[in-house]
Amino acid sequence: MSYPYQINSFEEYQQAYKKSIEQPEEFWASVAEHFTWRKKWDKVLNWNFTEPTIEWFKGAKLNITENCIDRHLEKLGDKPALIWEPNNPEERVRIVTYNRLHKRVCQVAQMLKNNGVKKGDRVCIYMGMVPELAYAVLGCARIGAIHSVVFGGFSAQSISDRLEDAKAEFIITCDGAYRGEKTIPLKSVIDDALIGNKTVKRIIVFTRTRTPVSMLKGRDVWWEDEMDYAEEQVEKNGVVSFEPEIMDAEDPLFILYTSGSTGKPKGVVHTTAGYMLFTNYSFVNIFNYKQGQIHFCTADIGWVTGHSYIVYGPLSAGATSVMFEGIPTYPDAGRFWDIIDKHKINILYTAPTAIRSLMGFGTKPLENKNLSSLQVLGSVGEPINEEAWHWYDEHVGKKRCPIVDTWWQTETAGILISNFAGITPSKPGWATLPMPGVQPILVDENGNEVLPKENETIAGNLCIKAPWPGIIRTTYGDHERCRTNYFATYQNLYFSGDGALKDKDGNYRITGRVDDVLNISGHRIGTAEVENAINMHVGVVESAVVGYPHAIKGQGIYAFVIVSSKHSDDELTRKDILQTVTRVIGAIAKPDKIQFVAGLPKTRSGKIMRRILRKIAEGEVENLGDTTTLLDPNIVDEIKNGRI
Ligand code: PRX
Repeated sequence: MSYPYQINSFEEYQQAYKKSIEQPEEFWASVAEHFTWRKKWDKVLNWNFTEPTIEWFKGAKLNITENCIDRHLEKLGDKPALIWEPNNPEERVRIVTYNRLHKRVCQVAQMLKNNGVKKGDRVCIYMGMVPELAYAVLGCARIGAIHSVVFGGFSAQSISDRLEDAKAEFIITCDGAYRGEKTIPLKSVIDDALIGNKTVKRIIVFTRTRTPVSMLKGRDVWWEDEMDYAEEQVEKNGVVSFEPEIMDAEDPLFILYTSGSTGKPKGVVHTTAGYMLFTNYSFVNIFNYKQGQIHFCTADIGWVTGHSYIVYGPLSAGATSVMFEGIPTYPDAGRFWDIIDKHKINILYTAPTAIRSLMGFGTKPLENKNLSSLQVLGSVGEPINEEAWHWYDEHVGKKRCPIVDTWWQTETAGILISNFAGITPSKPGWATLPMPGVQPILVDENGNEVLPKENETIAGNLCIKAPWPGIIRTTYGDHERCRTNYFATYQNLYFSGDGALKDKDGNYRITGRVDDVLNISGHRIGTAEVENAINMHVGVVESAVVGYPHAIKGQGIYAFVIVSSKHSDDELTRKDILQTVTRVIGAIAKPDKIQFVAGLPKTRSGKIMRRILRKIAEGEVENLGDTTTLLDPNIVDEIKNGRI
């Protein structure tokens, strides 16, 4: 079964796109009609990009969980909302129907209420990929608390910074999480994060790994006990209910921290109605989702991809969404293919880094795996190179499945540029055309629109001209930061930080970040953040971090480090630095290469010339451009010779 706003042909796409640009308010109102509102809106859109102020569906009242759960119960109550595949394939799969999801989310909401959580409070969620993570997210939304999910790979220091920034008083975590062979002691990381913290009042701990934990009297409680008690409160005579908090369309739904070009991650804020509409509309249309299909997004809910295309997009559409606890290579490199075979998955949405890493194992792990259920493949998080695209097409999709290359960001909430599966043409390596409601524009450094001469392909910085419902509203606690980061580089434009090409047919190809942000295995890391972490190590005087092409991760982290002479054992110092970065940020930010240098190429005003370091890291040592403005041009040769 399809949806009333589903686009079924290229012509329909063109019509929808045209309408969305010419009459955006009418266009989005006609989509919004198909959702559940407690009160309809007074105005579809108010906006200006100077402050910025962006308000969608102002005056409307709703609760997103009514749209993700309650409204489906009559027809889909017994259908699976979530299929949970555990880390260990020997363990039992959990199938969560919409009825069950409703009950669990009501229980979590009641549990949060019992523990003092109110509308607008910030709840930090630091859990592994267990169904309880989805219940926790939706439970927060049900009572109007703002969730801030922190990926389970981040360090105590990162959590501490995020807790402080969000002034969070509540945490939901697990004793531990399974990831392949490893067990990660989540509660113990939280305990470290809380040393010196004065704001957190309550920690709810779900038992997953039976890792020993320390539970502080008066502060820490067990999920299981609290949920049992809440169950008695929400279930009366077999009827489950927890009255959802009625939210304004523009009430914040969640904060999600992401890296930028400064040292400190920022809390991207998304609000209720626009986020819901945009994730739903993009999910249904880009993947061409038909009710009954099984959708498997391999991301972690700690990243925006998991928020939008495991939880809110699919559930608001009454879809069946697969949640996978483990990693693609455990117990072997055939795990994804086993999961597809076992659950008869129809849509697979993953990252190029996963494809490239699985390519490395050849096609043997695919043998004897029945992938005939697959109908659509998706790619997200980084540019997909043609080799990976063709491998995905040939060996996974068996040349029968359209591949959607979806470009978007934490700040955009959902997909902005992508082909539509089976509806609009694909082009390997190209994200292709914008979603309805999205108006991309390429500008030069001065903000002037780049226009093609005749039929040439043009290049520029990728901006968006007008708001779509999922656009970032603010950065938590610091609206000015939102303005300067996204709306001040070019007047009246949202600036993505990405560079792009546009061909004569209007297709876009994303070429990568044009700022000091790296994309490591589809995860965003700021170079300044890594430098700050390296510089915290006692033996380090100064450092500069750049990206370089990496066969599997897309980009690798190359650090040029000046150490004080006291520390002469390079190998040990390297290990110490890696340990420091892991402690300060998390293992994902560990440099792949560390080169010790005597100095860094700086201009006379003291600015590091990263352009030169980038070229050296990339191995382009011959053509470094003009080095005459450097304070000490000799340092460049030295760095070149020491390259690893
Ligand atoms: O550089 C772009 C890249 O990932 C960045 C956004 O990262 P994040 O906010 O962590 O969100 C990742 C999941 C959406 C972008 O600025 N990126 C994302 N998708 C693509 C991409 N680059 C090329 N092609 C894509 N399809």
